[in-house]
Amino acid sequence: MLAELDTIRTEGIATLEGISDETSLENFRVNYLGKKGRLTTVSAGMRDVPPDQKAAVGAKLNEVRTALTAGIEQRLSSLQAAKDAESVKGIDVTLPGRPARSGALHPLTRIRDRAIQTLRRMGFALADGPEIETEWHCFDALNTPADHPARNEKDTFYLPDGRLLRTHTSTVQIRTMESAKALPVRIIAPGAAYRRDEIDATHLSVFNQLEGLYVATDVSLADLKGTLEYFFQDTFGPQTQVRFRPHFFPFTEPSFEIDIKLEVKGQEARWIEIAGCGMVDPAVFEAVCKSRGDKLFDPEKVTGFAFGMGLDRLAMILHGITDIRHLIENDARFLSQF
Ligand code: DAH
Repeated sequence: MLAELDTIRTEGIATLEGISDETSLENFRVNYLGKKGRLTTVSAGMRDVPPDQKAAVGAKLNEVRTALTAGIEQRLSSLQAAKDAESVKGIDVTLPGRPARSGALHPLTRIRDRAIQTLRRMGFALADGPEIETEWHCFDALNTPADHPARNEKDTFYLPDGRLLRTHTSTVQIRTMESAKALPVRIIAPGAAYRRDEIDATHLSVFNQLEGLYVATDVSLADLKGTLEYFFQDTFGPQTQVRFRPHFFPFTEPSFEIDIKLEVKGQEARWIEIAGCGMVDPAVFEAVCKSRGDKLFDPEKVTGFAFGMGLDRLAMILHGITDIRHLIENDARFLSQF
């Protein structure tokens, strides 16, 4: 029996050498080590081995099984290695890899998030309103009379039912005051606005604004000035100069335009008009009182300031972008610069 086991091992190892695919290898395993395999059949003969030889035969049996098992495993791993080598043939693994390109936030998203962050630190909450609005919220309640040029069909997109695409985010001032439960009201509202503008390097028919409103019993022009000066210096850097120029808006009195003078790399420092603002006109509070049916916004008791600015313009100034259309074209050559 010992001799038979030696033969099985010698033959087995020799056969293994010649095996070149995994199916044949599996057949080999079944033929030798399987339930009816050669080794198993021989080991059944252990019964008839004289007791004094059992130990030696048993040891040999184990030795051969171990040798064949190891042989199969070795063969399997060399077959797999050959397969792997075949599949990468012709690929130069020493070439540098292609780096995965990482995305980035759109410059408009960045400036909006930045502005929200700064203003929230100052206690302004985020507010929202619909982009399809009533004429009342967009104009009448904001003290803008029916014959105001902004209400012209040439300037505003009207829907057949008389509603319109809001021409500014100032509508959110009215919406917020209509639903407010108590004073103070201190909100900002970033969002889209629509105008029937001729499209060129500085105009689109959809653009982005950021509105602000603060109403309480003691809000002053000094609060307005301090808040916006801080905001622009935080956004554009501490050297930024801010100036308030008297202006007219129907919904504020007095009203101002804000210019900032800032240093942008590669540009000559100059004054740039950046936002509108003012003290909320009592007529606006009156409209809100009428709509609410109470006196929470009694123009005799409350004061407030409001401001509005174009976010596209802010982004353009900050990054030296000369054509507003770049902001919506999704051209990777433009966007990858940010
Ligand atoms: N709504 C104005 C516009 O679109 C901007 C504006 C000016 C908003 C003055 C205000 C403000 O809140 O007080 O041109």
